[in-house]
Amino acid sequence: MVEEKTAERKTDHIRICLTENVQARTTTTGLEDVHLIHDAAPEARLEDVDTAVQFFGHKLSSPILISAMTGGTREAAKINASLAEAAEKTGVAMGVGSQRVALEDPSKAYSFQIARQKAPHAFLIANLGCAQLAKDYGVNEALKAVDMIEADALALHLNPLHEAVQPEGQTDFRRVLKKIKELSQSIDIPIIAKETGAGISAETALKLKESGVRGIEIGGAGGTSWAAVEYHRARKMKNIRHQRLGQAFWDWGIPTVVSLVEVRKATDLTVIATGGVRTGMDIAKTLALGAQCSGIARPFLKLAVKGSERVVQELNLLTAELKIAIFLVGGKSVMDLAMKPLVVTGKTAEWLRVRGFNPEAYAKRGEAVRS
Ligand SMILES: Cc1cc2nc3c(=O)[nH]c(=O)nc-3n(C[C@H](O)[C@H](O)[C@H](O)COP(=O)(O)O)c2cc1C
Repeated sequence: MVEEKTAERKTDHIRICLTENVQARTTTTGLEDVHLIHDAAPEARLEDVDTAVQFFGHKLSSPILISAMTGGTREAAKINASLAEAAEKTGVAMGVGSQRVALEDPSKAYSFQIARQKAPHAFLIANLGCAQLAKDYGVNEALKAVDMIEADALALHLNPLHEAVQPEGQTDFRRVLKKIKELSQSIDIPIIAKETGAGISAETALKLKESGVRGIEIGGAGGTSWAAVEYHRARKMKNIRHQRLGQAFWDWGIPTVVSLVEVRKATDLTVIATGGVRTGMDIAKTLALGAQCSGIARPFLKLAVKGSERVVQELNLLTAELKIAIFLVGGKSVMDLAMKPLVVTGKTAEWLRVRGFNPEAYAKRGEAVRS
């Protein structure tokens, strides 16, 4: 019964993300405020630009993560198969959606296992919710989720906004950090804490680091809004209260660029930039700001339902754009991006400044030129 409800909710989420407007409306990622500096005389050949990176000791051909989305239903199995085939073919990383549904009902495990079957060599990330962790999950459940897809890392999603605005939400997060610590001490693959669209601050990043996570996926605001998803669900259910809550918190959160800078400056953890990342240029900007990898969710969902070829095509285009961006700032590899100057303007610069960060410092990388 409980498991049927979880699966039904997952189906609703996919349908809503495919057909309704769930994009943040007034909050933007801040990527529009980040400007890479053009080098008119790059000392490189475009075709030599190398997009490969090391990600938790695993080589990715391009620093891209297909971020966690789904599992648990027949439709979700097809989506995971498409995404995984594309990840295997192109050499990028992939996360599966929350595996709670398969822990509640093991007959649904196939919809996640398909990811490993289709992507035997890809870096795959298992996924569980911190809300469930706080309530009754522990090391046992986490190990089951990891084994289910022979995962290379485990993502624990922190989604207090989503839990707070959904009618069935689990809103007791008191034991979350303690549970993350327990898992970090017992599981020998990297644990990644991830948000799902409201971002992670410097203060939160420090707490997570103390809890033993090795990576943070920032899931900043400016992309898919889970308050928006719940608004649409509530409207269908004629639930006035949750419709109102979804509207009220539609644009809640820390914009992706702000969150990325805060987490990068506060910790030395591996950082994955997600939340409204849409182009190869966006990816280049996040890498220039210090992310190790950049992730995209909802746009891949729309392509995955049309088949893995469409996902492959998009991944190849993203990498081609990233390559050109690296070439145009005079770089030869992804690592060069983090050393090139860039300019942060507008609302993003203002936000960072009042929070005590120094956006001007990025513009002065390569200061030697001027002094
Ligand atoms: C349909 C859908 C389902 C999602 N399910 C999960 C999930 O189960 N676990 C999770 O950690 N994040 C989940 N997410 C959040 C994404 O991983 C990502 O953090 C968020 O959507 C922001 O990225 P985007 O703007 O590129 O979509 C989901 C996103 C979408 C679109």
